[in-house]
Amino acid sequence: TAEVVTIPVVVHVVHNGEPVGEGTNISQAQIVSQIRILNEDFRKKLNTNGYNTHPAGADIEVEFQLAIQSPEGIPTDGIVRVKGNKSVWDTPDDQTLKALSYWNSANYLNIWVCDLDGFLGYAQFPETDVVGIPQNGTTKNPATDGIVIDYQAFGDTGNVKTPFHLGRTATHEIGHYLGLLHISGDGNCPTDDYCADTPPVNFQTSGCPSPKPLACDGVEAQIENYMDYSDDPCMNLFTEEQKQRMRTVLANSPRRNFKN
Ligand code: ARG
Ligand code: ZN
Ligand code: CA
Repeated sequence: TAEVVTIPVVVHVVHNGEPVGEGTNISQAQIVSQIRILNEDFRKKLNTNGYNTHPAGADIEVEFQLAIQSPEGIPTDGIVRVKGNKSVWDTPDDQTLKALSYWNSANYLNIWVCDLDGFLGYAQFPETDVVGIPQNGTTKNPATDGIVIDYQAFGDTGNVKTPFHLGRTATHEIGHYLGLLHISGDGNCPTDDYCADTPPVNFQTSGCPSPKPLACDGVEAQIENYMDYSDDPCMNLFTEEQKQRMRTVLANSPRRNFKN
């Protein structure tokens, strides 16, 4: 077991001018539900599918807390609401989006919630030298560090949309933010996500297939892994080796120097 690390979180709600709780200006309850889900998933606790009982599942011993103090030392609920200058966002808008509202990424996990143009979310990976494995993308700008999630895939109440209505998109993107690759790695067999305890697969799962598809080596694929592409109700584990990777990033990255 490791020391429990608590990550302070700021949620930037980039909305289209609706009243709080409507449309893209999601409610505080929706935000709080997402934080609860992150704590369930990263601590391997009861989740909305029943207990997290997958035999390969690990307690990551990482917890999340909405910030209680702003960078200026002012008490806060950890939520910043800002009207955007675009109504729908895509990855080329990354810098524009994040320039609207941002807190020092050395001290907070920044989560931007907005209307993404037909996809669920994305993340900025940590520095390659910290992770020690090849990474997608080269941008390691501290001012864009964090994750972006569609307002209909955030939390499990309010404006969420099935089948990505159980908050697993943020769990998945924080996996990337802490250095994890998809379990399908480079998409070839044998593939590599640099975790020996996730059976190699050369495909991304969609839906919740039963029977489970087979991995490269003929065993059942781990479609329940948060780093696959299955529907939210299927997902329920990170493995021990995924834990080690995330904990290494937390221990070594200068950008992840969290204080509470
Ligand atoms: N497609 C997104 C990505 O690669 C997120 C997938 C999240 N899956 C889910 N069931 N919520 O980063
Ligand atoms: Zn992903
Ligand atoms: Ca693997």
